[in-house]
Amino acid sequence: MSDENNKKWFDKKISRRDFLKKAGMVGAGAAIGASGAGAIFANMFNDKANQVVGDEKISFYGQHQSGIATPVQKNVYFAVLDLHSLSKEEIKQMFKDWTDYSQKLMKGELVAPELKNHLVPPIDTGETVGLNPYRLTLTFGISPSFLDKLKLDNKKLDEFKDLPHFPRDQIKDKYKGGDICIQACADDAQVAFHAVRNLVRKGRALITLKWTQAGFLPIGNGKETPRNLFGFKDGTENPKNNNDFKNVVWYDKNNWLKDGTYMIVRRIQMHLETWDRTNLQEQENTFGRYKESGAPFGETDEFATIDINKKGPDGKPILPIDSHVYLAKKAEVKIARRAFSYSNGIDEVSGQFDAGLLFICFQKHPDQFIKIQNSLGNDDKLNEYITHVGTGIFACFGGIKEGEYIGQKLFE
Ligand code: HEM
Repeated sequence: MSDENNKKWFDKKISRRDFLKKAGMVGAGAAIGASGAGAIFANMFNDKANQVVGDEKISFYGQHQSGIATPVQKNVYFAVLDLHSLSKEEIKQMFKDWTDYSQKLMKGELVAPELKNHLVPPIDTGETVGLNPYRLTLTFGISPSFLDKLKLDNKKLDEFKDLPHFPRDQIKDKYKGGDICIQACADDAQVAFHAVRNLVRKGRALITLKWTQAGFLPIGNGKETPRNLFGFKDGTENPKNNNDFKNVVWYDKNNWLKDGTYMIVRRIQMHLETWDRTNLQEQENTFGRYKESGAPFGETDEFATIDINKKGPDGKPILPIDSHVYLAKKAEVKIARRAFSYSNGIDEVSGQFDAGLLFICFQKHPDQFIKIQNSLGNDDKLNEYITHVGTGIFACFGGIKEGEYIGQKLFE
């Protein structure tokens, strides 16, 4: 989708303030009575004057898969699956079926029309009937174990192996491994969930769910970098144009992964209660950026260029040398980050919020992530407030043309 279309889409969205104004909740003396606030609605779920239309579609076809360079949506439903069948032919057929389903889902269509026979379960589960696609994107990837299990030895790539253990990792078995990932992103959480649910249902004899995670970002006005659960703008330093994506993200060797990319996912618990007891200066020192503006220390513009060697009048580096941004930059490599916040109720052991960041990034070589994570390693001040509990590496295929199926080059 072009930037112009993207802007138009955001302009259509209702701001929370507009919503409150309409509901009569802004301004002096606003009172919410049983009838008052509801008077302008058909009912509280139906504000016809300000509907979010969600009718813009992203095509499943193209040089690259969607959901990687696509402007980020508000919701993700991320699923990691294990292979149950080890038959290459069966799995190939599943990817063909998923291609058929995906291109329909991204157009906002049901995966199959309603059946005439009402004595069998409907093929489409139905929770998106009447809904637009809300910029749904579907991104598929496979892990190194997928190639092992299906004995695709001649397709192995030297750099494509499980990630190493990083300092301070506390990875839980239930959040690691898996053979396939599906990332569904949309501006409507139910649309994203429905897509994964129906894809999994289609393949249910051949795959099992290993772990899933729903994530969210603020609706905002589409012009501001979204804030993470620590209240900081997150995603500022990222590829900005096709050339950046070419240099940082798209795999360009001539094999089955051409025009695809490596996805790395980390489920990172954020210790909100500890963070909330930390003073603002320490919070800002943790990132080397100001909380309100997002600008790096010594600057006023969020997007100002950062020189980590720049020193202040006291001769010390302007960015604290244990800050997240200082150490990430010190690695001297780039990645494309496309992370979402999550909130899963309460941690059973600590009784605190089980919340954090579903960190997802894309790069043409896994070493880009590995170098940054090693640089953050033991030194990142942020480590006092986070714990990495889940991990995964997936090769996301290149895009396809109509008539082809996702992952085709791997199975040929
Ligand atoms: C919960 C965990 C994390 C939080 C809350 C977090 C938050 C942030 C924030 C607020 C920024 C500054 C604004 C921006 O440029 O987006 C940033 C920058 C960055 N983060 Fe993280 N981050 C986390 C984990 C990670 C991980 C695991 C990596 C990769 C190994 C990473 C890599 C980066 C990079 C490369 C930058 C840009 C640095 C630059 O300015 O060049 N972050 N992060």
